[in-house]
Amino acid sequence: MARNTVPIHAGEDVVRVRQETRRCAIEAGFGLVDQTKIVTAASELARNTLDHGGGGQAIIDIVQNGAKRGVRIVFEDNGPGIPDIALALKDGYTTGKGMGLGLGGARRLCSEFAIESLPGKGTRIIITRWK
Ligand SMILES: Nc1ncnc2c1ncn2[C@@H]1O[C@H](COP(=O)(O)OP(=O)(O)OP(=O)(O)O)[C@@H](O)[C@H]1O
Ligand SMILES: [Mg+2]
Repeated sequence: MARNTVPIHAGEDVVRVRQETRRCAIEAGFGLVDQTKIVTAASELARNTLDHGGGGQAIIDIVQNGAKRGVRIVFEDNGPGIPDIALALKDGYTTGKGMGLGLGGARRLCSEFAIESLPGKGTRIIITRWK
């Protein structure tokens, strides 16, 4: 299991998350469409880590379940947290100047999606896409 940590503290780090996610997706044997789905989800979540979480990191792994391979990414920050996760997932909900589509969109692009968040402590989002 290749483990790859990308710190997220500036816009260029979001680009690095995209690049590393694509590299792992290719290594896991994903076709172009599946690569693009996990890269798009990773891009939205890395952007949220930066803009809403005040920075953090992404840990990108290739995972295996029997013959199935996938890409799993953990996004972590020590920002303000998400007080109402169900509300934050609703399309159109934003506390910033975005469109409020990132979180819900990312969830639809993944096979597995989990959010842990403690107000005042931070947020951890774990996504997996299986091939
Ligand atoms: N890591 C995070 N820490 C704190 N709040 C977050 C985090 N990620 C998301 N949120 C909250 O969830 C809301 C919805 O996120 P979402 O990505 O859907 O929309 P957005 O980032 O506001 O806009 P868009 O992604 O469409 O540009 C955010 O506005 C923010 O309030
Ligand atoms: Mg967003």
